[in-house]
Amino acid sequence: MEKQTLFQFLLLAFRASSASDVGSADIGWFWQVTDFHYDANYSLHGNPSTMCHTSGGDKYNNGIYGNYLCDSPWRLVESAVNEMKSQNGTPDFILWTGDSVPHVKDSELNLAKVFENIRKVSDQLRDEFPNTTIYPVLGNHDPFPSNQMSDAMQYYQGVLNSSHWDYLLDEQQQADFIKGGYYSTVTDYGLRVLGLNTNLYYNMDKVTVMIWDPASQFEWMWNQLVDARQHNQMVYIVSHVAPGAFERMIDMTWFYPEHNERYLSILREFSDIIAVQIYGHDHTDSFRVLYSGPGLPVSSLLLSPAVTPWKSTLPGVGANNPSLRLYKYNRKTGLVLDYIQYFVNLTAANTDNQTDWQVEYQATQEYNITDLSANSLHKLLMSFKNDSSGYFQKYLVYNSVGYDMNPVCNESCVRAQVCAIEKLGMKEYKFCMEGKHHKTTDIPPTTHHPKPHKKVPQYMFYVIGTLAFVVVILFVVIMMLCISRRRHIAPYRRFSTSLNA
Ligand SMILES: *[C@@H]1O[C@H](CO)[C@@H](O)[C@H](O)[C@H]1NC(C)=O
Ligand SMILES: *[C@@H]1O[C@H](CO)[C@@H](O)[C@H](O)[C@H]1NC(C)=O
Ligand SMILES: *[C@@H]1O[C@H](CO)[C@@H](O)[C@H](O)[C@H]1NC(C)=O
Ligand SMILES: *[C@@H]1O[C@H](CO)[C@@H](O)[C@H](O)[C@H]1NC(C)=O
Ligand SMILES: *[C@@H]1O[C@H](CO)[C@@H](O)[C@H](O)[C@H]1NC(C)=O
Ligand SMILES: *[C@@H]1O[C@H](CO)[C@@H](O)[C@H](O)[C@H]1NC(C)=O
Ligand SMILES: *[C@@H]1O[C@H](CO)[C@@H](O)[C@H](O)[C@H]1NC(C)=O
Ligand SMILES: *[C@@H]1O[C@H](CO)[C@@H](O)[C@H](O)[C@H]1NC(C)=O
Ligand SMILES: [Zn+2]
Ligand SMILES: [Zn+2]
Repeated sequence: MEKQTLFQFLLLAFRASSASDVGSADIGWFWQVTDFHYDANYSLHGNPSTMCHTSGGDKYNNGIYGNYLCDSPWRLVESAVNEMKSQNGTPDFILWTGDSVPHVKDSELNLAKVFENIRKVSDQLRDEFPNTTIYPVLGNHDPFPSNQMSDAMQYYQGVLNSSHWDYLLDEQQQADFIKGGYYSTVTDYGLRVLGLNTNLYYNMDKVTVMIWDPASQFEWMWNQLVDARQHNQMVYIVSHVAPGAFERMIDMTWFYPEHNERYLSILREFSDIIAVQIYGHDHTDSFRVLYSGPGLPVSSLLLSPAVTPWKSTLPGVGANNPSLRLYKYNRKTGLVLDYIQYFVNLTAANTDNQTDWQVEYQATQEYNITDLSANSLHKLLMSFKNDSSGYFQKYLVYNSVGYDMNPVCNESCVRAQVCAIEKLGMKEYKFCMEGKHHKTTDIPPTTHHPKPHKKVPQYMFYVIGTLAFVVVILFVVIMMLCISRRRHIAPYRRFSTSLNA
């Protein structure tokens, strides 16, 4: 009787726990919005070849919601945020992954204008989502001059004060943020979010060239991950620039090589607790798979396309339709279960004088995967290599958010796409682009502690040299002593060995 009750209890407990593992209470949603690049100087009559800026009596007829050659007019920013609110006004949180400032020359801007630009976007999100947690990170266009991210506290303090990020980050987050634009926080459901500033590793940042650990972010990140592991927390890595290469170009990598390797080695070391990594910056719809060995996917990196439609000045890259992305996730494990990719057809919006945001696709359905885990993305990537499935062709259309509906991708284009997705290490990427296989897999040796490798000072060579010399002399002296003693003990030894035998 008692046994039976115990059994029933266990059964109930098991059911309850498995129900809560898949129960709807554990399923949540969050938004990612990225790369607004709001241009206050967008003009309906501005010259598209100069970012739709008015220069004298230009009589162009730019779209009310934007132009593929230009950054976002305010109407597009407003429309995007309104759409987020109307599709899902009560997400668990919003990830806002940087780049609010337009692609204009530094000579047209100054720090005050940059802060003002970020503030307008920040206020818009805060006003439309007054009760939603917003996790912002900085983009490479958000400092002044552009790309020059440093460890200058005044800049980060200014983002808090002047751009109103002090409305978004709590005191603890702000205390970390002023050190280098990074912070850590825990969601209501116990996931740790690391908002990073990977712009510090961006290879156009002249301030951080040759700096081993810019703004001490590596060390901080490593400590945060150790702490998360101790607290059994799963982690979201959220940042602007992703490591590795840009999939739409040949040999275009983002980070300084040493920073890239170091970043990857930390990610590999903690890949068991990193649920997902989320980035912006590329303006394209893509993903990356991090491997810890051949065929061993350990982490998934998701790259959302931009709000701005701006056609890149990089050769052959192209423009994109404005994008928004809504993720479905498990609140406890952090596993990304799915996402819905929204877009607005900019051509149609301008013609119709209204934005008709639509679902472009839903990831699991369109790619026939069960979730967005590293294993699932690995499976998708493998299908790209053998495109009888047609998934790669679909991906190519989504890659530009339908800007190019009939993408033609020749052999070198396919290679650039696949190598960027699969090879995050720079050497491995290069081998891949050359069509070679890299025997030693993807893994460089792990750096366990993010402690700086201090350069060995020159006098150390003299010290070591002298020590070595002393050791050699000592060795010779001891040898000579031994030889002379051996002569004395040799007869006894011979005696004792014969006894033992
Ligand atoms: C807009 O144009 C004016 C005049 O050229 C310039 O001073 C200002 O910085 C520009 N603002 C932005 C956000 O580009
Ligand atoms: C935000 O919360 C406040 C207080 O709970 C409430 O009065 C307000 O209606 C909420 N606003 C929105 C947009 O949900
Ligand atoms: C930012 O705000 C803090 C606290 O209110 C203040 O002490 C500081 O002077 C402000 N800095 C700037 C640059 O406005
Ligand atoms: C476009 O729509 C806006 C309101 O959404 C309206 O104010 C404006 O007059 C319209 N323009 C045209 C050309 O229809
Ligand atoms: C989708 O994936 C499942 C499981 O991997 C497979 O059995 C099925 O054939 C796939 N469907 C299509 C249409 O590719
Ligand atoms: C590609 O896929 C087809 C059908 O799905 C399969 O028959 C073929 O063996 C695959 N080729 C490679 C190289 O994997
Ligand atoms: C956008 O609209 C234009 C014109 O209406 C159309 O030609 C194009 O195919 C549409 N693009 C997408 C992705 O729907
Ligand atoms: C592939 O296409 C690109 C751009 O369209 C072109 O520059 C390149 O020469 C092509 N490569 C090959 C091998 O056809
Ligand atoms: Zn951008
Ligand atoms: Zn960027």
